[in-house]
Amino acid sequence: MWRDLLPVGRNAATGGYRRHAWTPADADCRAWFEREARDRGLWYEADRNGNQWAWLGDPADGNAVVTGSHLDSVPDGGAYDGPLGVVSAFAAVDALRRRGAVAGRPLAVVNFTEEEGARFGVACLGSRLMTGVADPAAARALTDSGGVTLAEAMERAGHDPSALGRDDERLARVGVFVELHVEQGRRLAGTPHPVGVGSAIWPHGRWRLDFPGVADHAGTTLMEDRRDPMPGYAATVLAARESATRMGGLATFGRLRVAPNGTNAIASLVTAWLDCRAPDADTLEDLVAGIAAVAEAAGAEITAESGTPLVTFDRPLRVRLARILGGAPPLPTGAGHDAGVLASAVPTAMLFVRNPTGVSHSPHEHAEEADCLAGVSALTRVLTDLLADDPSEPAQCEPGPPGGS
Ligand code: GLV
Ligand code: MN
Ligand code: MN
Repeated sequence: MWRDLLPVGRNAATGGYRRHAWTPADADCRAWFEREARDRGLWYEADRNGNQWAWLGDPADGNAVVTGSHLDSVPDGGAYDGPLGVVSAFAAVDALRRRGAVAGRPLAVVNFTEEEGARFGVACLGSRLMTGVADPAAARALTDSGGVTLAEAMERAGHDPSALGRDDERLARVGVFVELHVEQGRRLAGTPHPVGVGSAIWPHGRWRLDFPGVADHAGTTLMEDRRDPMPGYAATVLAARESATRMGGLATFGRLRVAPNGTNAIASLVTAWLDCRAPDADTLEDLVAGIAAVAEAAGAEITAESGTPLVTFDRPLRVRLARILGGAPPLPTGAGHDAGVLASAVPTAMLFVRNPTGVSHSPHEHAEEADCLAGVSALTRVLTDLLADDPSEPAQCEPGPPGGS
């Protein structure tokens, strides 16, 4: 499975992946998922929000054990962020069947669409729509950098966008969700543990900052006559870096659009996207307010694009997973996941597979094969244990706070 996916959407120049939602590379990933499902005799479906499901057992029985992740990537992302969770899920299904460990509860593998928000700006869009955290009309109108709306992109990819939105019937079928993911830090490196159990996700969000200016000639406009948006943007970047460092948060400007984008023209508009994260909601709010104040002083208009509150994963479930895995360590993370969105609706847990360098969202992201196999084994043990639960008794639920929008 890993070998089949490796060439899909790979940028030969950088070695990174560009598997953005509803593009041809994404279509190849989705075709791969459907093939893996059908080859195993699993029941395949794409839901109203474009997420893909592969079912073992009858979904109508409810209280299903669901595992999976996403196949899309950031621009020039690594091979593991997302696909490791989907490939491990299918591998765990195979292992369970070999052991004859599949019991009364249905089991599903899921691929959530547009998890990275790399094309339409809103992270975890597929799971946000499914749980009702994202508004369907607003989602349909989201545009990519070329002005293509989500609705148009879905239609072009052969998926009807008219039925996007909260899917209570599907959510009611899910008894528990477990997402396996490559670790995006170095907490497991140097420990005897190839796998950790997710404990919490920092609150985080994305904001768009528009710094207006007036286009003019770079060679003739006096410095004092310029209305150049670039210095205001630059001051905001420096302030973000200083505040995040001082407050123990994280602030990133990783995406920028400059109009008209000419070397010898003063910009008429700088649009920058801020990604901000912090260990708690108050720190995040203070951090963003401080950065916003600097940007507004430079004339910027600020629009919140998405937000996710603090997620604390279901405690009974994560204690159970740590016990099954012989004391796997708890890991908090600053990275967002569909599991963080699902946690507001169903008992949810995460398993992290050791990343020797901690690098992620980069072509250099890596996990050793032995650790990936340990991840499959850990997921198999976890699913075996969950599937053995009495199907008539849903798992105890201690859902996290509801997701933001
Ligand atoms: C998703 O990977 C995120 O944290 O941005
Ligand atoms: Mn990611
Ligand atoms: Mn991911």
